Amino acid sequence: MSSRRLVVLASGAGSNLAALVEACRDPAYGAEVVAVGADRLGTGALEIAARSQIPTFVASVADHPDRATWDVALTGAVAAFTPDLVVSAGFLKLVGSGFLARFGDRYLNTHNALLPSFAGIHGPRDALAYGVRISGATLFFVDAGVDTGPIVAQVGVPVQPDDTVETLTERIKIAERQQLVDVVGRLVREGWTITGRKVTIP
Ligand code: GRF
Repeated sequence: MSSRRLVVLASGAGSNLAALVEACRDPAYGAEVVAVGADRLGTGALEIAARSQIPTFVASVADHPDRATWDVALTGAVAAFTPDLVVSAGFLKLVGSGFLARFGDRYLNTHNALLPSFAGIHGPRDALAYGVRISGATLFFVDAGVDTGPIVAQVGVPVQPDDTVETLTERIKIAERQQLVDVVGRLVREGWTITGRKVTIP
């Protein structure tokens, strides 16, 4: 089977991207990262891509007259790489309806909390403030809401009594990266169906 094409959208340090790139070095994994996109210049993720000779693109909201025009540009930039699966790993921007119309059934996002609790960009901070004893990471297909799409996988991570936002964030990221690599591999090798909120990997 030929390897499946991944476009990764990442605007942060890029540790999830790095884990995917590493996994893709094994031909048996079944995927290759064909491009990395960001919403800003100068990110760790773009550096990781450049070091691995992976093409990059930047679609910055500020470079476009409005959000809708940005969404068209982002959609075109991703589509140019004909991805089988688009992975948001710390992209931190909500895409628009045009992007979702094109990639909605194959646009994954990883979130650093156990959804539906603690959606948004401060998952670990909010989980810690609430006092939960277990947090974790959620991998889901993106829909039009904020972290509301059909869930593919979740992994639990214990919250320790002396945790800070930083220590909890780092503990979650370790489990999150492993989950991302494991589940993206299964998706590309085995395929998937989405029926309502239920995601099935045959
Ligand atoms: C991940 O923990 C993700 O859940 C959150 O941002 C983080 C990205 O980390 N939205 P990295 O850039 O992959 O290191």
